[in-house]
Amino acid sequence: MNFVDLIIKKRNRQRLEEKEIEFFVNGAAKGTIPDYQIAAMLMAICINGLDNEETACLTSEMTASGKILDLSRIRGIKVDKHSTGGVADTTTLILAPLTASLGLPVIKMCGRSLGHTGGTLDKLESIPGMKTRLTADEAIEQVNSKGIAIMGQTADLAPADKVLYELRDVTGTVESIPLIAASIMSKKLAAGADAIVLDVKCGSGAFMKTPEEALRLAETMLAAGKKAGKKTAALITDMNQPLGSFIGNSLEVIEAAEILKGRNDNDLKTVSLALGSKMLVLGGIAKDGKEGLEMLNENIENGRGLKKFEELISLQGGNPDVLYDYELLGSSLSSLSVKIRQSGFISSIDTYKIGKASVVLGCGRLSKTDTIDYTAGIIMKKRLGDPVNPGDTIAELFAADSEKCREAAEIMRSALTITTAPPKKSPLILYELE
Ligand code: URA
Repeated sequence: MNFVDLIIKKRNRQRLEEKEIEFFVNGAAKGTIPDYQIAAMLMAICINGLDNEETACLTSEMTASGKILDLSRIRGIKVDKHSTGGVADTTTLILAPLTASLGLPVIKMCGRSLGHTGGTLDKLESIPGMKTRLTADEAIEQVNSKGIAIMGQTADLAPADKVLYELRDVTGTVESIPLIAASIMSKKLAAGADAIVLDVKCGSGAFMKTPEEALRLAETMLAAGKKAGKKTAALITDMNQPLGSFIGNSLEVIEAAEILKGRNDNDLKTVSLALGSKMLVLGGIAKDGKEGLEMLNENIENGRGLKKFEELISLQGGNPDVLYDYELLGSSLSSLSVKIRQSGFISSIDTYKIGKASVVLGCGRLSKTDTIDYTAGIIMKKRLGDPVNPGDTIAELFAADSEKCREAAEIMRSALTITTAPPKKSPLILYELE
């Protein structure tokens, strides 16, 4: 097969056959197709798209490019969850221990911060001593004995995605629905769960800016999941403002702990519980979403969710006392209150910019080799629609030095639009799909 012919085919808006997609993915994973030809194909796909069948085929070839985790040694239905990425999106730290405390076996592979979005692995590693590098055998054993393990993704899982993702990152081909769907679903399918719950973010802090785009991404991922024989469900949730109020690695651990203690009833809790109840239904633990929500709320009230989080931290070498004494997570040397200069209502928040401000403070990486400042971050004091007056604090910033705080404060101010009339309230959960 000549790969140039395949590039031309896609450039001319023709469908790729199964064996052609297999040739492409194999060549990418094994390094037999040069990067410039892969990049040309990615651009052709980005511009001309793939239909659902081509996307499902790309997904299954990418899944098959590496090992597929065999979770059959874990008793019960294994349900995975994936968010397409957002800001103050700490749902995993809440729903993983909560659902595990209700008997759902939770084995979760997570990623690191990506661009302006946070990563569960970095958040967990902000807990002193916490180990996230587990072998598959260690994780399976831990789930069988204690019901929960959270770990980083092993390198042999969907290696074709690594090659394609790195090239997409530097060739302007990240924002493509079939490529995002195949990238996410190949990793989820290789991680071996029986069912998958997807949280597709939509809005200014998400890859998908409009409900239409988010719906198309969700439907594409659902089709790929179903083709692979997995029960798959998706929620489309709002990312037009940070989901929680705490942004930054150790700060997000604190917010998760507060929610598990029943002290915080916010949007982060609502989305976490909605996703968690879907997991319980797909896992055969709750008969429907309503029962799932009741069970999750009960395990917040009786403290079992928090206890499971504590157990997870201990099992993986971390200091569980951080959940009761937040000072053990450390603190930043510098802080700054961002004050508002106008009066009116917060009518829009450019959440991408808020994520960028958090990276400037040290929460994420600007290059692969950057180290993370775990205590850096933002505590948002206002939400969309809130009335504001000059001098009001919209956020508290934390960083290692005051220069970073000042730079982030400017970005924060430019992220807000203040108007004289309050904005229309938009729903937090836009769609539920199965
Ligand atoms: N997350 C992924 O894993 N892949 C994408 O393409 C986008 C977000």
